[in-house]
Amino acid sequence: MMKPLEGKHIILGITGGIAAYKSAMLLRLLIKKGAEVQVVITPSGKEFITPVTLSALSGKPVVSEFFTANTGEWHSHVDLGLWADLMVIAPCTASTLGKMANGIADNMLVTTYLSAKEHVMVAPAMDLDMWAHPSTQRNISTLIGDGVEIIEPGSGELASHLTGKGRMAEPEEIAARVEAWFAGEMKRDMEGRKVVITAGPTHERLDPVRYLGNDSTGKMGYSIAGECRKRGAEVVIVSGPVSVPVPEGVKCIKVESALEMLDGVRTQMEGADALIFTAAVADYRPAEVDSEKIKREKTPEMNLRLVANPDIAATISKSAPANTIKVGFALETGNALEYGRRKLETKGLDMIVVNSLEDAGAGFGTDTNKVTIIRKDGSEIAYPLKDKREVARDIVDNIVDQLT
Ligand code: C5P
Repeated sequence: MMKPLEGKHIILGITGGIAAYKSAMLLRLLIKKGAEVQVVITPSGKEFITPVTLSALSGKPVVSEFFTANTGEWHSHVDLGLWADLMVIAPCTASTLGKMANGIADNMLVTTYLSAKEHVMVAPAMDLDMWAHPSTQRNISTLIGDGVEIIEPGSGELASHLTGKGRMAEPEEIAARVEAWFAGEMKRDMEGRKVVITAGPTHERLDPVRYLGNDSTGKMGYSIAGECRKRGAEVVIVSGPVSVPVPEGVKCIKVESALEMLDGVRTQMEGADALIFTAAVADYRPAEVDSEKIKREKTPEMNLRLVANPDIAATISKSAPANTIKVGFALETGNALEYGRRKLETKGLDMIVVNSLEDAGAGFGTDTNKVTIIRKDGSEIAYPLKDKREVARDIVDNIVDQLT
């Protein structure tokens, strides 16, 4: 039988923390699961675990410096970055986190990180006060936004004999996360399915040069589209004006206003297995659209008359077949869960993704999001702060779960 990590190339980065002794265990687990592992260690990492142990376990010389001192052989971080399918840094010290978050490439490990094209996982390990420090937490948020997956440290007794959060996750957990990542990458559980997604803001015209709009970037909807496509679905985005690129293989219908978006969904929804409403639709539009640029009046005030837009999610959900999974989003400033539950009900949705603007890193314009997924069956899952691509994965997992 094929081993779960057969043929996978993994860079194991090791930095200078007490937990480095556990890296040998992690290395053994990855090798046992079939992976080919190249260890890259920082100079201070070598103070905690010897390269001899690591090269014996991995069957490869350990890389630490840019050059091998006696032969002058150059180690190419670029080639290493290209070779790898995944990079996992365990343990990762506060110092290396800071260097990664700021691109300070003063050693082979951080340079390799900057060259790595594939997914990167980091298992931080440090004293509780260092972990809790705003600087560390800022760096963690930056890295999550850069797409790095953080394997949270656990709580317990630390090397300092203090007790708290900062212990590196156990090697078994890290190895399981590595396996889960590759399994997720290979999922094709949306083959033969069709998904229609609304995304971005709407622009409601006032005149030929002005509109009412909002700050939605479309990132969440486009990430979900990419995830569904990767898993084999036929995907259509009905998108308001945004500048994010359309994922490969995804059909994109460009619209401006809420009325056009509703129309776009109606023409595309035939045969859809899931309808996902990520768009930030304007609640109102100007009652009149001027065909000429509105001139400045010599009056101190100007009144705009607005009329309500249709609720696309509610309108479509009520007319779509019962077995189509309808997913809405709720961006709230307070009482997020309560409003979320209510919207799930009133809009006729099967699932709602709730995020609160009170959470740092959630909402418009960020690369990260922190969501709670509420399903019609009553289940509620609160996820930690994640990169929007990972949030997309969680959302799609929940949709697949409900497909019949
Ligand atoms: O009511 P609220 O705007 O908070 O609801 C948010 C959800 O409803 C999102 O899924 C959004 O895409 C959808 N919506 C819509 N049409 C509207 C307003 C919201 O599809 N006019």
